[in-house]
Amino acid sequence: MDTIKTIEWKDDKVIMLDQRKLPSEEVYSTCEDYLCVAHAIKNMVVRGAPAIGVAAAMGAALGAMGIGVDDFDKFYAKFSSICERLGETRPTAVNLFWALDRMKKCALDNRELPLNKIVDMLKALAIKIYDEDIESNVMIGRYGQVLFRDGMSVLTHCNAGGLATAGYGTALGVIYAANDSGKRIHVFADETRPRLQGAQLTAWELQKHGIEVTVIADTMAGHIMKKGKIDACIVGADRIASNGDVANKIGTYQVAVLAQYHDIPFYVAAPLSTIDPKLASGADIPIEERDTKEVTHIGSMQITPDYVDVINPAFDVTPADLITAIITDRGILEAPFDKSISKIFSA
Ligand code: MRU
Repeated sequence: MDTIKTIEWKDDKVIMLDQRKLPSEEVYSTCEDYLCVAHAIKNMVVRGAPAIGVAAAMGAALGAMGIGVDDFDKFYAKFSSICERLGETRPTAVNLFWALDRMKKCALDNRELPLNKIVDMLKALAIKIYDEDIESNVMIGRYGQVLFRDGMSVLTHCNAGGLATAGYGTALGVIYAANDSGKRIHVFADETRPRLQGAQLTAWELQKHGIEVTVIADTMAGHIMKKGKIDACIVGADRIASNGDVANKIGTYQVAVLAQYHDIPFYVAAPLSTIDPKLASGADIPIEERDTKEVTHIGSMQITPDYVDVINPAFDVTPADLITAIITDRGILEAPFDKSISKIFSA
């Protein structure tokens, strides 16, 4: 299956498909320095936890290329501040910090090498993080597709496809893998207000891959579950705490509650890089608050009265006890998640 080119390292530049313009335009944005990448992450040119991690690693590599000093300590001080700047872009997806920590460790572990060699190693690591993400998604697909039968209807929220990763996707990767093994799956995609990732991105990429998709307003999920039209739910994740609580796009929690009420399995698909073993529970996951204009406006049209109070948390936390299984690149985790997560990290 062709993977979508979400992000690419080419000729010492980072090229990203500008997701703000989909589905009407396929436009690529090119960054030649780390500040451009930081801006692209913050402003959602690139989005989705694994894709943000890859972008941050590539941004750090661009930053390293521009550090003109001659000793390691000065190099590392500047490199750390570049990583810090990239880390300030979005607080919830842990893949961002996971990737930046790997980049910093690579620089430190190779401190004895000449600086130009360290920069080459950082570039190579950013590309490795990209390659590994695609491999992880393929593994998630392979493990997860056994949970899906031919003819199933599956509800998803937000976008957890090729666009949200280096390629292939996590939750949608499972659907693609099921499809590739001959199972016909119909996807219901929540539109995912306020940023409409479901309507604009999930629908676009499923159509592109020939998967049947029906877009619904977020408010319709309960109704169609009650009508018996949904056999399973599957979503991605931005950060998973060590007890299995999952932060994902705002609205995921209500889908999980509805799924439990209607006795429908609720699956989360994510690579191990999305699990934050340092956090005891979802209560510790930082939730990004975004510009309220995302709620007060649809496109350029204001839909609320002037001066009305508005909030805009971009993510919510689904408690582990609403989750049937977490499909990872190392296998399917089941409850109790604190045990299955700690086992997979100690393996
Ligand atoms: O705000 P976004 O668009 O970056 O949020 C994306 C999500 O919440 C995805 O569901 C999540 O990152 C999983 S991506 C495989």
